[in-house]
Amino acid sequence: MSIARIGIVGSGIMGSGIAETAATSGFEVVLRSRNQSTADATLAAIEKSLNRQVEKGKRTETERDEALARVSGTSNLAALKDTDLVIESVVEDLAVKKELFNELDRITKDGTILATNTSTLPVVELAMQTGRPDRVCGVHFFNPAPVMSLVELVRPITASEETLAAVRTFAEACGKTPVTVKDQAGFVVNALLFPYLNNAVRLYEQGVASIADIDTAMRGGCGFPMGPFALLDLVGLDTSLAILDALYHEFKDPNYAAVPLLRRMVAAELLGRKSGQGFFDYRS
Ligand code: 3HC
Repeated sequence: MSIARIGIVGSGIMGSGIAETAATSGFEVVLRSRNQSTADATLAAIEKSLNRQVEKGKRTETERDEALARVSGTSNLAALKDTDLVIESVVEDLAVKKELFNELDRITKDGTILATNTSTLPVVELAMQTGRPDRVCGVHFFNPAPVMSLVELVRPITASEETLAAVRTFAEACGKTPVTVKDQAGFVVNALLFPYLNNAVRLYEQGVASIADIDTAMRGGCGFPMGPFALLDLVGLDTSLAILDALYHEFKDPNYAAVPLLRRMVAAELLGRKSGQGFFDYRS
């Protein structure tokens, strides 16, 4: 099970970041978006990110050009036929992902490993949509994917050792440190992180401190690189709400019940960086 050619489905923050990571690590990448214009916009975003790295002296122009030459964008799922590993990174909606896995199973060659970047949904349910449940697993990157060193390798009860080993080798070739986790909502990081983020919103609702002061407190008091509100804005409030809802659905633990303000902000389309405004304003 050697992996050279990667398919990425989804062109959001994570799909784009994973595509950049794989391309700069020497893998051929086919990025599939719902339409050609969003695929093109994602390729442009990857180019911009690589240009910044060249300006900072972290990459040469040749490395940038070689990485860009390895990525292509398409709106056609059938273009993923000859990939060795597909990483799905579409919206956190089980029905959407199930349909996609069913389609990927029909389209890709027999040996292709199908992986999901989900952070909370049951990977086994996606595996069972396919005729190859032994070749389905989770590979959970963190935001921003080119920078964060962790990958959670998610082992559904159906996956084979060979599948996990091949995806581990891929993650390591991307310069990441993988940890193997059980197929349970939130795995390790989000199971611990999201009660904290949710409770930060609760503290603000209770009037304990301002948004800026809560962020300052957690940076200065705990040494975190970002405060909880800056991090919620980075992850996206819609994604954060979907993660909390999935955690609550699985465990019924009140710690995972999304604080009302978070739900209201998503309803108001205040989604964080991606919409220009969340707990902070990014429009200027
Ligand atoms: N793409 C590529 N490189 C990026 C980047 C991006 N999107 N964002 C930042 N970088 C690079 C910069 O080029 C810079 O590199 P350099 O130091 O070598 O020049 C480095 O990262 C640091 O960036 P900055 O100096 O601009 O800013 P910071 O020092 O504030 O670092 C940060 C930014 C890396 C995002 C840092 O604040 C951080 O680590 N924050 C915590 C992020 C975190 O917790 N992520 C996990 C979220 S949970 C998750 O993803 C799970 C999911 O399921 C929701």
